[in-house]
Amino acid sequence: GWVKIVEVGPRDGLQNEKTLVPTEVKIHLIDMLSEAGLPVIEATSFVSPEWVPQMADQVEVMKGINRRPGVSYPVLTPNLKGFQAAVKAGAAEVAIFGAASELFSKKNINCSVDESLQRFEEVTKAAKEAGVRVRGYVSCVLGCPYEGQVSPDKVAQVAKRLYSMGCYEISLGDTIGVGTPGGMAELLEAVSREVPVDALAVHCHDTYGQALANILIALQMGISVVDSSVAGLGGCPYAQGASGNVATEDVVYMLHGLGIQTGVDLPKLMDAGAFICRSLNRKTSSKVAQATCKL
Ligand code: HMG
Ligand code: MG
Repeated sequence: GWVKIVEVGPRDGLQNEKTLVPTEVKIHLIDMLSEAGLPVIEATSFVSPEWVPQMADQVEVMKGINRRPGVSYPVLTPNLKGFQAAVKAGAAEVAIFGAASELFSKKNINCSVDESLQRFEEVTKAAKEAGVRVRGYVSCVLGCPYEGQVSPDKVAQVAKRLYSMGCYEISLGDTIGVGTPGGMAELLEAVSREVPVDALAVHCHDTYGQALANILIALQMGISVVDSSVAGLGGCPYAQGASGNVATEDVVYMLHGLGIQTGVDLPKLMDAGAFICRSLNRKTSSKVAQATCKL
């Protein structure tokens, strides 16, 4: 078997860092991740610098990275303005990001879910004309920091809308990392009635330590795209208290242990993790990286 890993560390991992990470560090991280064999690396966001100052150097990052043939470097675009800037900076793939919760949508992108879908229609239409691929996110699929429980049907409806407007893949975000495997199974049952399972991805934050278990259930239900972040960095500025994504090192270790291929060179990935942790002066959240440190 084969699983595609979508590395979100340079975007999800860094967007929430309090001190500005130097652009060269971001570029070097992305280049190391490319070298490690990741097939998709979310590079940055074309969002408002007032909302997310850490991503304000998006154009320099896109210019500075060494694009490895065959690797995609998608960027987040919340609206047409972001999309146009992304294309100008050379993005060949973008991601639009909606939510299954009204309050989260309002806090994160300052509009209702319906309004966001209208903006995303504009983006997908322009993307079609420009030959740019679009990935779609649904946030808060297993719970919302403002609304609490989120119904799987609501997630399925938003996912279906994103898929119908042309997203080739829909990533289901457990933004605050509250889900457990039972909830994940129920969610995927509901969503896969509306969107083909081979167009679905899971994006698990690991706040409650459930991410690997949730991913394993998703794999058993036919999902073959997993989002993760090197060293387990990450968090959304509009989801306080949520911790980082599941660590890419840990996902790769689990998948390779299951005999599933990823194309990722684990030692090189660990070097990238060590590099960014050194640069940020913080400890890795990857269990695999911690374990190896003790050898
Ligand atoms: P707004 O203030 O409602 O925007 O923000 P507006 O349309 O009213 O415009 C206000 C100003 O922003 C204007 O500038 C616009 O030009 C500018 P002014 O005329 O005042 O000088 N503006 C922009 N500037 C740069 N890039 C743009 C852009 N759009 C407008 N694209 C907006 C709306 C969406 C822009 C804002 O809310 C925003 O940037 N939000 C960012 C949210 C974000 O990045 N969140 C983190 C990523 S999502 C996430 O982490 C979850 C995920 O990982 C999945 C999961 O875990 O669930 C993906
Ligand atoms: Mg996220």
